[in-house]
Amino acid sequence: MSDTLRFPDGFLFGASISAYQTEGGNTNSDWWWWEHIESTPCREPSGDACDFYHRYREDIAMLAGFGLNCFRFGIEWARIEPAEGEFSRAQLAHYRRMLDACHEHGVAPIVTFHHFTIPKWLHDQGGIASERFPALFERYCDRAAQALGDRIAYACTLNEPQGLGSSGWLLGINPPGHTDDRDGAQRAVDNLLEAHRLGAAAIRARAGIPTGVTLALPDIQYEDGAQPGTRSLELESRINDWFLELARKDEFIGVQTYTRFRYGPEGPRSPGNDWSDITRELTETDQTTQMGYEYYPQALGGAIRRAHRACPGVPVLVTENGIATANDEKRTAYIHTAMREVLACLAEGIEVRSYLYWSLLDNYEWAFGYAPTFGLVAVDRQTFARHPRPSASWLGAVARAGALSGAAQSV
Ligand code: BGC
Repeated sequence: MSDTLRFPDGFLFGASISAYQTEGGNTNSDWWWWEHIESTPCREPSGDACDFYHRYREDIAMLAGFGLNCFRFGIEWARIEPAEGEFSRAQLAHYRRMLDACHEHGVAPIVTFHHFTIPKWLHDQGGIASERFPALFERYCDRAAQALGDRIAYACTLNEPQGLGSSGWLLGINPPGHTDDRDGAQRAVDNLLEAHRLGAAAIRARAGIPTGVTLALPDIQYEDGAQPGTRSLELESRINDWFLELARKDEFIGVQTYTRFRYGPEGPRSPGNDWSDITRELTETDQTTQMGYEYYPQALGGAIRRAHRACPGVPVLVTENGIATANDEKRTAYIHTAMREVLACLAEGIEVRSYLYWSLLDNYEWAFGYAPTFGLVAVDRQTFARHPRPSASWLGAVARAGALSGAAQSV
């Protein structure tokens, strides 16, 4: 039995963040604009976020101190290319120092090139829906890979691209805030698919590093006679299939999941089913998380299997999995159960190479602001002081042992 609890040698245990949600002061980005317009749906602006831009050294040392051996973070296009065609050597050097800090601590860096945000100058030209987007993304990937590629373990082109068309052009909950703009949404999706193709090829050509896309894959479960899911969920699922098709040619597929969505003959059966309602109340119960989602850590197994079925032979990286909760024991129990799912998938012969918890830090949860607390580490909003939670050392101990011990915990 104990064998089944061991992770393979070289398995990557770590935590993820994105640039915009943690760095602070990304004033040149479309999201900064979005947070400050009068009609913004954002509950609060991102401001200084976690001041990760200045505190990355301490944060990487802290992550390594827990015992973790992998860190996924983002680079911010709006900093690297502050005006069209002008690349900042100083900002690239900043990100290179971050990569160096990872290597100094024996931490494998996984870098996301695009995590929801774009430079404001590109937003002004139509953003992701602009016909210029794929080629501009390709050039940015080329430049960033040239400057940073030799220090990166894995490169993620786009984070969760499946939702960007609908949230920005149909639902109006992300920049540019259009509603029912079907043409815009279609162009955005087509451009993102092309951007992944071009961006991944540029990164490989420059740096030869394993490259892939990271997808939000909720575990969607239909009972006999079930009604189809909500329109947005069905649409995103279809778009995920297109990205999964592209991912067959990649060196890995990034799997990210937080919950399941269940459908029965009478319709949706999961709490928090209407995830796209960003005005919803954020209340946590025993069965739900602060995001209103069902507490269902087993979702990770379903997500990994879906990615594996779609891309047989392509290694899976779990690039995000986590829970927003005020109860850190619930967080530990969630991670424990999710990691058991990873072990079950490994036992089935699926090549899973990493488990990265979202998030290292309590950070800016987009339109929801700072209320949801996903972090292994709490961040004081006044002083930015870091306060590691017990779940951080628990996950670090699993990483050091390379194994899970004990039965799955319940909350
Ligand atoms: C995103 C993160 C987000 C997290 C928690 C993922 O969908 O990549 O940016 O903070 O989920 O909601």
